Amino acid sequence: MAIIVKDLVFTIHTQNSTYQMKVDNQNTLLHTYYGARSDETDFSYLIGFQDHGFCGNIPGTERERVYSLDYLLQEYSTAGNGDYRASALRAELGSGTCDCRLVYDSYQIREGKYSLDGLPAMFDSKESGAQTLEIVLKDAEEAFYVHLLYGVFEEQDIITRTVRLENRMDHAAVISRVMSLGIDFPTNDFELIHFYGKHMGERQAERSPMVHGSIDLRSTRGASSHQQNPFVILAEKMASERQGLCYGFSLLYSGGFHLQAEVDSFDQTRLVLGLDDEDFCWSLNPGESFAAPEAVMCCSRDGFSALSHAFHRAVMEHVIRSPWKKKRRPVLVNSWEAVYLDFNKEKILAIAKEAAEAGLDMLVLDDGWFGKRDSDACSLGDWFVNEEKVGGSLAQLSEEIHKMGLSFGLWVEPEMVSEDSELYRQHPQWAMTVPGRQPIRGREQLVLDMTRDDVIEYLYDRLSSIIDGAQIEYIKWDMNRSLAAGHSRLLPRERQGEVRHQFVLGVYRLLEKLISRYPDLLIEGCCGGGGRYDMGMLYYCPQIWCSDNTDAVERLRIQYGTSFAYPMSTISAHVSACPNHENGRVTPFKTRGICAMQGTFGYELDLSKLSKAEKQQVKEQTEFYKKHFALFQYGTYYRLNSPFENRDYTAWQYLDSEKKEAIVSVVFTDLRANPKTDILLLRGLKPGSRYRVWMDREEQGVYTAAALMQAGMRLPIPKENYDAYQFYLKEEV
Ligand code: DGJ
Repeated sequence: MAIIVKDLVFTIHTQNSTYQMKVDNQNTLLHTYYGARSDETDFSYLIGFQDHGFCGNIPGTERERVYSLDYLLQEYSTAGNGDYRASALRAELGSGTCDCRLVYDSYQIREGKYSLDGLPAMFDSKESGAQTLEIVLKDAEEAFYVHLLYGVFEEQDIITRTVRLENRMDHAAVISRVMSLGIDFPTNDFELIHFYGKHMGERQAERSPMVHGSIDLRSTRGASSHQQNPFVILAEKMASERQGLCYGFSLLYSGGFHLQAEVDSFDQTRLVLGLDDEDFCWSLNPGESFAAPEAVMCCSRDGFSALSHAFHRAVMEHVIRSPWKKKRRPVLVNSWEAVYLDFNKEKILAIAKEAAEAGLDMLVLDDGWFGKRDSDACSLGDWFVNEEKVGGSLAQLSEEIHKMGLSFGLWVEPEMVSEDSELYRQHPQWAMTVPGRQPIRGREQLVLDMTRDDVIEYLYDRLSSIIDGAQIEYIKWDMNRSLAAGHSRLLPRERQGEVRHQFVLGVYRLLEKLISRYPDLLIEGCCGGGGRYDMGMLYYCPQIWCSDNTDAVERLRIQYGTSFAYPMSTISAHVSACPNHENGRVTPFKTRGICAMQGTFGYELDLSKLSKAEKQQVKEQTEFYKKHFALFQYGTYYRLNSPFENRDYTAWQYLDSEKKEAIVSVVFTDLRANPKTDILLLRGLKPGSRYRVWMDREEQGVYTAAALMQAGMRLPIPKENYDAYQFYLKEEV
């Protein structure tokens, strides 16, 4: 049994972890333990009660002065009752002051995992045997209820969390902060790993000590953002890839988020994660409820690899719904870096012809096919085919491409509008601008008010008519700017604080309508590359364009960071031209191929302009990827070292579930005179087995698993700058 309740001590066991809460004699729900699997001991014996000074005492405990919410470990803290740490909830319940104090009300255990209306959430399957624990808290005075929901995936070591607020009062509650997850630890033995970045440089892993005070990571951009990812790891100081206690926390949400990791004066650690509260304000009327996005947690005592494997499995099995998750993804060529907005039918067909000859599966027509989009300053919103540019209808173009043996994909950016567009001229009020103010523009475009039903309907009609009008197997769903002021003309002044969240709910509504109508459509998420790379998007799209930076060497860091939370099959990666368009670096064609195979593989260059030798490499890379797609897409993934720590090379490994085959990729990132030989320790091989090893198809010999894992594999000396190698290992039978 995963959930055990005894004397109001709630213990949740997963295969390798235990999580515990307890209702104390003041009716407060305390958090007592989260860590490696233990038993049902009531861990509240660890809490010390003493008068700490300047710690307010709740009514009834004033005389002893030892009961203060300011230092007790709590399950869901609230602002305004003497706890000065980062709060999970800030609610004004009628007095004008945020002073909600939550006490225990009731609980329920249910078979199956809860779902959330209009929001992405992990789902269960028959085999997963997930359970739900719901603990209901209530304000000490008012009929305001907080339902804490826990989804328990025992086998996967995953616990999900969210809250549902319910107003049973006769007046409105005003919520200005609602976190999906709050967790307190009695110690401060941690470091924080987070994934920061920028456009063209997403998810850079940074490990830093915690500080007394608070580390704030957030996105206020209306998207989960390039700048911070809604995933962090809290790790014991000695934790590494192979060992140590660590926790992963992820928000399954694609809009702004806020994470605070705080160490208090008593060396205790608190972490809260949820909706961005910078300008969030939600009026909850009598009878209404509000569901926060879902957070996902995992605890590993075996280091980061095990943590990533748990997240990868959870996302593959219980987040991604698309039937594509189990199919080989098409090897595609995308037109963006090949021709940008400057194309005609001949150019596209020339690329398609080369793609077909090289054995690729799909051509994706990126930006530029609609309205009069010859520049990026116009036409967003005008989702009508520019037949003059495309040389006929989209149906004709797609048919010609299909005749070559390729499938066809198309780029869209539904959430945006250009002022120079028919749509804007007809419906200026559909743009998210504040009346009387000049809007903030990004890439010269405005954001559509996705909180409006008429906008969603328009986009749904346009997109379905495009998809119905031609044979389209794939859509790349882009978003090329951040929200500035979130304003909707349909909402009154006092409800504008809802807009950013309502915007995301609108995006989800539109995506849901489209995937219900086109369940087999492969949707690739994108936001100027990886500006919306989160588990929320993966609920709708099985893969995401990882970054607008296609340089193989910079991608090593971006893909490394992405791999901590997200399965490799979700990482869309392409071989592009050199000198690279983003940073001017020149890398060998082979290296670019190996780096792009770290994800869902494709090309993004004018194939017709390649040399004969390069065309041959395209053929060979495509063939190799297709042959080993199961390893690349679903193999167990190991980061063999870190591009942030090793200047000389970056290496990674895939292993199939039966440990019969592995691929190891190595990219050299520096050259040295009089070089030394590097040795790489492999991971996860079957003890007692022997593996035949090939380097770039050249046989190297047969080695035991123990030798390869304990002593290691010898790496070649790089022959040129950014040289790269791929090793294939097969178990000897
Ligand atoms: C940003 C994307 O990330 C690129 O791949 C490309 O689709 C452009 N937008 C098109 O405008």
